[in-house]
Amino acid sequence: MTTTAPERVAPVDLFDLTGRVALVTGAARGIGRSIAEQLAQRGASVVVVDVLDPAETVEALRAAYPSSTFEGRVVDVRERAEVEAVVNETVAQFGQLDILVNNAGTASRSGLPEFTDEEWFRDIDTNLRGTFLFCQAALHPHMVERGAGTIINISSISGIMGGPTSGGEGGGRSGPAYAASKGGIIALTTWLAKEVGRHGVTVNSVAPGPVATPMTGTVSYDFSQQLLQRMGTPEEIGAAVTYLASPGAGYVTGQTLRVCGGAALG
Ligand SMILES: NC(=O)c1ccc[n+]([C@@H]2O[C@H](COP(=O)([O-])OP(=O)(O)OC[C@H]3O[C@@H](n4cnc5c(N)ncnc54)[C@H](O)[C@@H]3O)[C@@H](O)[C@H]2O)c1
Repeated sequence: MTTTAPERVAPVDLFDLTGRVALVTGAARGIGRSIAEQLAQRGASVVVVDVLDPAETVEALRAAYPSSTFEGRVVDVRERAEVEAVVNETVAQFGQLDILVNNAGTASRSGLPEFTDEEWFRDIDTNLRGTFLFCQAALHPHMVERGAGTIINISSISGIMGGPTSGGEGGGRSGPAYAASKGGIIALTTWLAKEVGRHGVTVNSVAPGPVATPMTGTVSYDFSQQLLQRMGTPEEIGAAVTYLASPGAGYVTGQTLRVCGGAALG
């Protein structure tokens, strides 16, 4: 452990990720795919993980960034053995894991009276426990023992403000399990940041507002309470994640960065 600031060096590109190894969950489509693309654009090699076949994403990355390495793995983030295997295989193949992005998620939108146990367990298990399983597998024995690494967990403003005030099923309001899981991710992020900071590992969260992806394709939002009155793009979330993954964010940990058009003010 060191208590001194890193030595000053000549100006370098603090957003360069050349040589870094990233693993992004839920990256077959939507926000996760954009995160993988932007990390790759900055020079990272990326392991693309999804319960869906991520082949199309991987092929596109290989075509666009031929000097980096891209792998696709079909993994259910709820399955401990699958999670541990893909993390260990990544380290075995690349020698290290520098950046973990927990993005895979589901959003059940039934109203309160109809909300089922099945919906509750699916969202909590995928969003919260899946994030925990990947963090656990990446931190021990890899990032903590190495004394380096960064984790970015995708939460949501639903985990801060309980989703929009109005708009039931189909109207922009995600369900109670989604809000609880995303609030849990924010708390887990803070807990982990406190646990591993002394080992040189950072843990942060990005909390998106409404973003145009397959998850929100059938939902219509009321933007009257949002400062920027539009949907966000997957690229705008990918940019925030790329910042937090970069050396330029080396002194940032335990934070939740809201990328929400001003829907949730601090
Ligand atoms: N779109 C939004 O408005 C919005 C807002 C706030 C937060 N988010 C969060 O951003 C993340 C990405 O969402 P998106 O909008 O791109 O949704 P999406 O549905 O387009 O993508 C989610 C991805 O996660 C994968 N996934 C789901 N369950 C999985 C499992 N058990 N194992 C592995 N992969 C699994 C899906 O196959 C899919 O590729 C989610 O965590 C979501 O909660 C989205």
